[in-house]
Amino acid sequence: MTGDQATSRQGQPIGVAVVGAGYWGPNLVRNFATSPEYRLTWLCDLDESRAVRALGPYSTVGVTDDLATVLADERVDAVAVATPAATHLDIALAAMRAGKHVLVEKPLAATYADGLRLVHEAERAGLILMCDHTFCYTPAVQKMRAMVHSGELGDLHFFDSVRINLGLVQADTDVLWDLAPHDISILEAVLPPGVEAQSVAAHAADPIGAGRPCVAFVTLQLTSGAIAHFHVNWLSPTKVRTTMIGGSKRALLWDDLNPQQRVTVFDRGVDLIPAEEVGEQDRETALISYRTGDLTSPALANREALAGVVQEFADSIRTGRPPLTDGRSGLRVLAILEAASQSIALDGIPMPLRGSQVDLDPHEQSDLELQPHRALADR
Ligand SMILES: NC(=O)c1ccc[n+]([C@@H]2O[C@H](COP(=O)([O-])OP(=O)(O)OC[C@H]3O[C@@H](n4cnc5c(N)ncnc54)[C@H](O)[C@@H]3O)[C@@H](O)[C@H]2O)c1
Repeated sequence: MTGDQATSRQGQPIGVAVVGAGYWGPNLVRNFATSPEYRLTWLCDLDESRAVRALGPYSTVGVTDDLATVLADERVDAVAVATPAATHLDIALAAMRAGKHVLVEKPLAATYADGLRLVHEAERAGLILMCDHTFCYTPAVQKMRAMVHSGELGDLHFFDSVRINLGLVQADTDVLWDLAPHDISILEAVLPPGVEAQSVAAHAADPIGAGRPCVAFVTLQLTSGAIAHFHVNWLSPTKVRTTMIGGSKRALLWDDLNPQQRVTVFDRGVDLIPAEEVGEQDRETALISYRTGDLTSPALANREALAGVVQEFADSIRTGRPPLTDGRSGLRVLAILEAASQSIALDGIPMPLRGSQVDLDPHEQSDLELQPHRALADR
């Protein structure tokens, strides 16, 4: 089955297989199984008993531990990969070489170089490569994106997110690579057109001796002069999931743990009064004015984000347009994660980012480009 054949199956359900039936795979299974866009054909896991458990006793979906069986099946147009990040490259590459469209769980791959290979393969084969950055499909993030893009918040001043709880200290990843893909992809989704991250500085700690960072603070400088900050933490006794976006006209707070009022818009802010409007004697004190207007809470659709993910994947397969979180956006997330890891290793020195120029393998760039920002590195 080629990408073109899959696209031309207009009106027919898209045959889909899920690989990985651990913690997250069953959520994909449930959403594919309940979407009229798809026919779920296979669930593949090295541990078949997990796949059987995930499907339940009455399922007619095929179960296998052999990826080749799935990829040889002509009914399969698309493959969703929900295995650990280190396996994404091999599974997604094999699926695309078999002509299947691919949805890969976040992060797109274990390294930027691996992600780049996936993006190049998808572009070469004319297939859809999508990364499941689930939060980008929540009604809250879609509202935030619409408000920033329409100018309702004014110019972006800052983006500040907190994603902390007593998390599972994982053996194959650190807190940055586990949690920050969410925040980076949300930032990517809401940034106004033409604004991108230009450098990242990060600090992290492993106070329990787990062998990998369990707490991280990440700061991004944006090309517009605005700043973004993420706090990700596996050791927090309380769970917090908040994002604040400040703009020149309004600010908003997204509290994902407050279903009554997930998004609050503040008609509040600080204005700088042009110096010529202030009398000479007041100039030192009166240049700043504070606005305190209403708080409003926009109505949000009540829809599971993953339902939006599988719908976007189907729409992209049927129309050939890139999904919101396509391979290239997954690659930009990897570029920021890698640069943040480098910054952590260098005690927080800011690292330059390639922005939307994601074609170069960082290992192929000149030494000069890979250097930390000089002025700060020399401090
Ligand atoms: N989008 C989200 O919000 C979200 C949330 C959690 C996890 N994830 C992502 O989902 C992916 C899986 O995470 P998880 O927590 O479910 O992991 P997990 O360890 O719970 O499950 C992974 C499963 O993959 C199977 N597996 C491993 N290698 C395989 C292979 N080569 N072929 C077939 N099966 C294989 C394992 O047997 C296991 O059942 C990761 O990329 C993770 O970052 C995304």
